[in-house]
Amino acid sequence: MNSTELKPGVHWVGGIDWDIRNFHGYLTQRGTTYNAYLIQDEKNVLIDTVKPHFFDELLSRISSVMDPSKIDYIVSNHVEMDHSGALPLMLEHAPNAKVITSVQGEKGLKRHFGDGMDLQKVNSGDTLEIGKNTLHFVHTPMLHWPDNMVTWMPGEKILFSNDAFGQHIATPQRFDDEVGWDILHEEAAKYFANIVLPYVDQGRKALDALADLDIGMIATSHGVIWRSMIPQIVAKYDKWSRNETDQKALIVYDTMWGSTEKIALALQDGLEKAGVPVTRRNLKTTHISDIFTDLLTSKFILIGSPTLNNGMLPTVGAFLTYLKGLRPRDRMGLAFGSFGWGGQAVGQVEDVMKELKWEFPQEKIRINYIPDADELVSVRDAAFEIGKKIIGETQK
Ligand code: FEO
Repeated sequence: MNSTELKPGVHWVGGIDWDIRNFHGYLTQRGTTYNAYLIQDEKNVLIDTVKPHFFDELLSRISSVMDPSKIDYIVSNHVEMDHSGALPLMLEHAPNAKVITSVQGEKGLKRHFGDGMDLQKVNSGDTLEIGKNTLHFVHTPMLHWPDNMVTWMPGEKILFSNDAFGQHIATPQRFDDEVGWDILHEEAAKYFANIVLPYVDQGRKALDALADLDIGMIATSHGVIWRSMIPQIVAKYDKWSRNETDQKALIVYDTMWGSTEKIALALQDGLEKAGVPVTRRNLKTTHISDIFTDLLTSKFILIGSPTLNNGMLPTVGAFLTYLKGLRPRDRMGLAFGSFGWGGQAVGQVEDVMKELKWEFPQEKIRINYIPDADELVSVRDAAFEIGKKIIGETQK
């Protein structure tokens, strides 16, 4: 298999996963890549590896450039197995290679692979001379594991960013301008929402640490390499890591006999009449990882469930579990749903929003059995009033 030359002496040698559709709960409809990079200098350096079963692909691409046994260093920017899984196999073919990793990375690699590797831990700010080039290591803890770091190669202005700025997409192209902004923006937003969102503060710190670099290329560990759209993707990361939302609404719900859906539609109607853009997602038809792409930039989140067996529908429960894990902040929330008796679900939904310290523009909405015409008008009118307030805030 072939490699792709990024700059003279710098090659992409990773693996393309055309088949993966679920990355521990994250739906990857477009597949993904596990990117690894080979730097040839007086010392030869491999940046990261791949998932174990992509090792043959990695080895084949490295071999298309040079003899793998001549690799002097392997930089392990991140312990997670999609980047370190092939490390033991790689070391069998590069027996003289020393593994460079962060302080937390050293601990993590030992827990994954034992004590047999020749590890050299680096602190944030440490450098490694490899000939005419120098590599700089910057720790980016909790972006998104404690061990994460990035590697900066100032000679070629390449930032090997590992998971940061990634997108889950398998393509024969390696560069952003060969794929296009719309698809990459969608995948980068989904990636941020599902992976980076709980750690926005750490993301902010990492961005600040990288702010002074004159970056010409961001070589990520997933998806394509950014070379033409760096200002756009950095601006998006800046927005997302500041938790900046747009004045738009997201309605997420499931329904048993259609009553909760009727409330959802009335809410949508009122908000739209007030001029608020609304995205409506039925949990039966849209995967939670896709809903988080919508949630990333939505200010007003409305979540609905009927009551089943004294609780919410399991689909709504799964969504709320995921929501608590990703813990988006500074949102407005509204819980709604129909019920026959008991009617506990709506309160349980609202409790999760309270845990997240969201604001509530009005009381939760609970309607017995089937909402009648008057009740739907009331719901629509309430949503219209909330919508006017939201739009008013936009225009202030
Ligand atoms: Fe792509 Fe956190 O591994």
